[in-house]
Formats: sequence, C-alpha cells, structure tokens
Amino acid sequence: MVCTALTLGGCDQLPKTDDSQSMKMEQTISLVQPVDNGVTLMAALKERQSVREFSAEALSLEQVSGVLWAAYGINREDGKRTAPSALALYPLTVYAFFAEGVYSYNPAENTLNRVAEGDHRAISGMQDWVATAPMNLVYVADLGVYSQMPPYLEDVKRLLAAQDAACCVENANLWAAANNMGAVTRGSFKEPEILSLLGLDAERYTVVLAQSVGNLK
Ligand SMILES: Cc1cc2nc3c(=O)[nH]c(=O)nc-3n(C[C@H](O)[C@H](O)[C@H](O)COP(=O)(O)O)c2cc1C
Repeated sequence: MVCTALTLGGCDQLPKTDDSQSMKMEQTISLVQPVDNGVTLMAALKERQSVREFSAEALSLEQVSGVLWAAYGINREDGKRTAPSALALYPLTVYAFFAEGVYSYNPAENTLNRVAEGDHRAISGMQDWVATAPMNLVYVADLGVYSQMPPYLEDVKRLLAAQDAACCVENANLWAAANNMGAVTRGSFKEPEILSLLGLDAERYTVVLAQSVGNLK
C-alpha cells in the first residue's frame, strides 16, 4: 500500500484501526491483541509526522491497545519488549492520561490499571492542547533498576532511561501513523505534579518523556 498524499497531514489510503469497541473506563481495562492492518513499515515511515491537533473522539479499545503494545508491549516468549532497553533493565512504566483518569500499563497482563480518577491530562504537558488530547502517555523511569551501577554514573542513569523511552515513543508514533492516527513526542511535562499525583518518590522516579495520541481532526 503506497500513500500518495504524504505531506498533506493524514493519508486516506492508510486504514484506520477497527473502532468497533469503545473502551469502558473501569478500574482494570483488559486490552486486546494488537491488530495487524497490513500497512508496511515504509508506508508508516513516510506518513509519520508530529500531530498536535486531534479529533475530540475517544480512542477505541483497539487503538489504545495497539499504541501501548507498540510502545512497550511484550513481543517474545521471554517477556522482552517491542522496544529495546539498555542493559535489558526495562526501567519504564507507561502511564496513560485520559479524561476519565490515569492508568498504568501492565505489559505482562496486557491491562491498564487505574491509579488516579479524574482528568489530569493538563499536568502531562506544558502546551494548552495537551489538556484535551484524547490520550497522553507519560514515561516514568524507576532509576532503582540501575542500582548496580556506581553512583558517579547518576547522570547516565537518567540518560539511559530517556533513551529507552525514545525507542518506545517512536514505536508508538509509527503505529499511530500506520493506523491513520496522530501522535507527537513531547519532552515537556510537569514532572513534580506528575510524581506527586502518582505518589512516586522524586529521589527514585523520574519522568523522561511524554507523548500525545489521538485521531486525526
Ligand atoms: C525528544 C523530543 C522532544 C519533543 N518535545 C516536544 C514538545 O514538548 N512539544 C511538541 O509540541 N513537540 C515536541 N517534539 C516534536 C518536535 O517538535 C518535532 O519532532 C519536530 O518539530 C519535527 O517535526 P516532525 O516530528 O513533524 O518531523 C519533540 C520531539 C522530540 C524528538
């Protein structure tokens, strides 16, 4: 499948993921297996671009499942992920901020688990439109996974975690592009507010990257 309108911001020839199942925002959301729509990597790469304007409609269960699996899902029997991880230490937890609440992604169970009720999307970014983006992903690193590294490598720990997150984010960007959705990588977010909301110790946890995802307008 080849897109002929690559620079026009959305290609009608790329199929949209089946949106038959709306997501019920319960305490635990069972995600579904990612849908393979047959779009080639080349087509997704040609289509990828930062999107900051989204349709107001909520994402379907299939869309949320696909984006999260692409970002940090398990793709092998040994439990390793779609994204590489420095030293295979997997420091990240992906939090999804929706209008209805904040959820933590559990790749092993393929679930989302609510960790905060209510609309906290605004603290996941610094730009106005983030507050209404259908889904904002926040990548939080547990620097404790690097405990075997000497303390003088403190700065490297954060760098490694951020590099891991960049791999995840780009996987999700490409999955979104392949499914006629929009996404943008974000290095801007309100870290103190996020860690406070999640009840995470700032000495150990750090927000390394964020991302907004939605349907094209
Ligand atoms: C590490 C990183 C951080 C970024 N942070 C933001 C951000 O906070 N807000 C934003 O709107 N875009 C952000 N971007 C997106 C860039 O602005 C965008 O990739 C760039 O303008 C090139 O456009 P393109 O992605 O459409 O090719 C970020 C991109 C990267 C790689």
